Amino acid sequence: MSEQPHIAAKNPVKVELEAGKKYFFCTCGQSDNQPFCNGAHKGSGFAPKAFVAEKDGPAFLCQCKQTNNAPFCDGSHKQL
Ligand code: FES
Repeated sequence: MSEQPHIAAKNPVKVELEAGKKYFFCTCGQSDNQPFCNGAHKGSGFAPKAFVAEKDGPAFLCQCKQTNNAPFCDGSHKQL
């Protein structure tokens, strides 16, 4: 059985992204710095997902870790 991520919250968080900047999205759900990685995945089978923002401005990033469109919320949290 594969490891399930921790549900950090059942709602997305709005963040301001900077175009061209690289971010590390938390996929394990254990980071205290949601939605970003703080290294809490160490020792688990999870690794952060690196992404580069395409534009400046707000984005809604997934905190439930069930999205199929990481790092963005795709509404999957509504099934939880
Ligand atoms: S917060 Fe995870 S899909 Fe919306």
